[in-house]
Parts: sequence; C-alpha cells; structure tokens
Amino acid sequence: MQPDTAIYRARRERVIAEMGEGVMVIATAAEVPRNRDTHYPYRHDSYFYWLTGFTEPEAVVVLVGGAEPRHILFCRERNEEREIWDGFRYGPAAAREVFAFDETFAFDTLDAELPRLLENQPQLAYIIGREMAWDTQVMGWLNAVRAKARSGVHAPVRLVDARVWLDEMRLIKDGHELVMMRRAAEISTRAHGIAMRATRPGRHEYEIEAEMLCAFRSGGAEAPAYTSIVASGANACVLHYVFNNQPLADGDLLLIDAAAEFGSYAADITRTFPVNGRFSAAQKDVYELVLAAQAAAIAAVRPGAVWNDPHEAAVRVLTAGMVDLGLLHGAVDGLIESEAYKRFYMHRTGHWLGMDVHDAGDYKVHGAWRSFVPGMTLTVEPGLYIRAADDVPAAFHNIGIRVEDDVAVTADGCEVLTTPPKTVAEIEAWMRG
Ligand code: GLY
Ligand code: MN
Ligand code: MN
Repeated sequence: MQPDTAIYRARRERVIAEMGEGVMVIATAAEVPRNRDTHYPYRHDSYFYWLTGFTEPEAVVVLVGGAEPRHILFCRERNEEREIWDGFRYGPAAAREVFAFDETFAFDTLDAELPRLLENQPQLAYIIGREMAWDTQVMGWLNAVRAKARSGVHAPVRLVDARVWLDEMRLIKDGHELVMMRRAAEISTRAHGIAMRATRPGRHEYEIEAEMLCAFRSGGAEAPAYTSIVASGANACVLHYVFNNQPLADGDLLLIDAAAEFGSYAADITRTFPVNGRFSAAQKDVYELVLAAQAAAIAAVRPGAVWNDPHEAAVRVLTAGMVDLGLLHGAVDGLIESEAYKRFYMHRTGHWLGMDVHDAGDYKVHGAWRSFVPGMTLTVEPGLYIRAADDVPAAFHNIGIRVEDDVAVTADGCEVLTTPPKTVAEIEAWMRG
C-alpha cells in the first residue's frame, strides 16, 4: 500500500506536542526465527507503524521534542545483494523523502548516534520492559551519555513509558484507520459467509479454516489477524481451541472465531452455526439467548456510557436467560452478585480493537471505567459454554456459542462494522442458499 506520509507526520507532531521536551525512541519488531533458518511471517510493531507507516524490519523512529522538534528514522541501507535475495529496501535517503522525516540514518549507526541525540535532554520515552534486549540497549546509550559528564554533558534523568501518550492516541481511530478497519471487517464478513456455506457433516475443521484463510488472502488481506479458532461440538467449550483437526458431526454446532488483518488493522468475528444447517431446539434456545445478550450490549455502546456497561448488560440478559432455561437456579441479582453466571460465561464482553486484536488503551482511568467517545473501536462478544455435567439438562451438553462483532463508537451510538448472517433465520437461509 502506498504510504500516506502526511497522516504519519501529523501523528508524530501530536506525539511531540504531548511529550514536550525530551526524546522518544520506538523500534519496530524483530524478525522471529521459526526453526533453523526460516522465520515467522514478518509483522512490524504496531506503535512503530502508527508513527511511521514504515514496514521494513530493523528500523527505529526517534522523535525529538522541545524548541527544535525533529523526526528521525534509522533504517536499513540499500544493498544490491540482499535486495536480489529478499526484495526492495527504501534506504535512508529515499525513506527520508517518502516518509517525511527530517533526518535518516543507517540502522547500523544506531548505537553511535543515539547517545548524541540524548545529550542534555531532560527525559527519554520508550516502551519500557517489553523486551529485555531493548532495555539493555537503551541503558547502554544512557551510560554512554553519562560517561561524558566531565565535559559538561548530562543524560536524561526521567524515563517515561511512551505508551502513556501513544496508547491514548491509538485508542481514538482517525478516518484513515476507520477505512482500514471497515475493509478488514468486510473481508472477514465475506469469509464467514463462505465458511458457513462450505460447512457440512463429514468435512473437517481444518477444511473450513482453509476456506477462511483463502477468503482473507483473495480479499487482499495481509494475514489472519490472530490464530483462527474453528471448533465443532464440545471443542467450542474450549475458549482458545486451535487444533482445528476434528471431523464435523451432523447435529453439532461449529464456532468460528477468525478474521483478517488489512492495512495493518484487525477485524475479530465469531459466528456459531449448525454443521447441518438447522439449529436443534436446544441449540436455538441458547443461541437466541446469546444473540439477545449481544443486542443489549451493542445498545450500551454509545457516548456517555462507560466501558463496563455493555458487559453488565450482557451478563444480566445471559443470567436471566439461564434461569429460564434451567441452567441456573435462584434470583437473577443474587446470581450476578455471586458471579454464578461465570460457570457458563467466564470471559468479558469485549476489548479494544485496532492494529492489535486486543488493542492499546486503558479500560479504567483514575479507577473509573472509561467513557465511550466517537472513534473508539471495540468488540462485542458474549457467549455461553455449557460443558456436560450431571446438574445440567442433557439437551444443553457441549453447546458452546459465541457471537462476536466489531463496532465503532459514533456521535449517537455505534456503527456495527461486521455483518455475516447472524439470526437463526438468516443463518439457516444462507446455508440453504
Ligand atoms: N479472537 C480473539 C478474541 O476474540 O478476543
Ligand atoms: Mn475478540
Ligand atoms: Mn474473536
């Protein structure tokens, strides 16, 4: 994708304005070995990309605040030999032009240049404690500055976790980010539709996973946004099931939690539907309860409401419904108070969504749940997971259901970004089609 450099330059200017005097240093991700000499598919660091739009490994952005702000990038030099083997590199000169930096340096000069950039600065901001090797490297630069004390140079005395500013900014998506997220949502929506129609008894979980992955890539997505969960029957009660290796049985449900990353932004969708295309009476009862909980939660996502409101709405609907179904016994308020519902609903109703599937941003501010404001993006994903047990009606044994959609907070509510078939009628009609 052609980088829109003005967006990234403007973000860096906002960060510098927030930070004030000092230096921020953010590295991109390292390449990770998989085995011997092969690597996992490369994915840049989300903070680094948010600031630069630059996707090559071995790169560091340095932002200098104060009276003379500077935007600096360290990146790999051009290398004819390496480019024959591994492909194009911008190199510092072109990267400076294309990505709107004031200065660029070769990546292998980082240890020589950084101490100089830190001289006489009051504070250093970086991502503290995420990678020990990086912490050690940063301490090395600080000590290199301190070693010059006798020539009157002083080192930063304040270390700040850069996430204190970056997380707040990443939490509110701008127009460019919402375009990427809508596209990731569309590709993932289409993939869920394809997977539903490809499902039938006798096929395997991995065949349906393959349908999803094919739809992601053929839709233009870079990769799945996270490891796909394709869980049939009792496997759906394992929250992070990723074996995806079982045959699909007539009469079981299939839970698919899978979505694509597009333009570095994630979608996150779960749908649960019958392998044979028809919900049984018990499956339908539980499914429609989860759906009602999701509707209540989505209705609670609006400016003025706070982070926990959708979760509380979902828990109340689920708990009351479980009493009606005979899964829980007692008064609804008491069952919520004692957290008895957690036997069947043990996770929370959502999370921030963005470049990372569990995206940046605090959920509480000064001890209170955060208020929703337009531009926040999150998932709404209630579920029920009913393992076989003597005190559970047999018709509900091994039913695991989650319904997950992605929403963006708007001025007067929220926009639902993900739209695969969802009601019982929609799913059964789609699977017949
Ligand atoms: N797919 C990860 C999640 O739903 O949180
Ligand atoms: Mn999720
Ligand atoms: Mn999910």
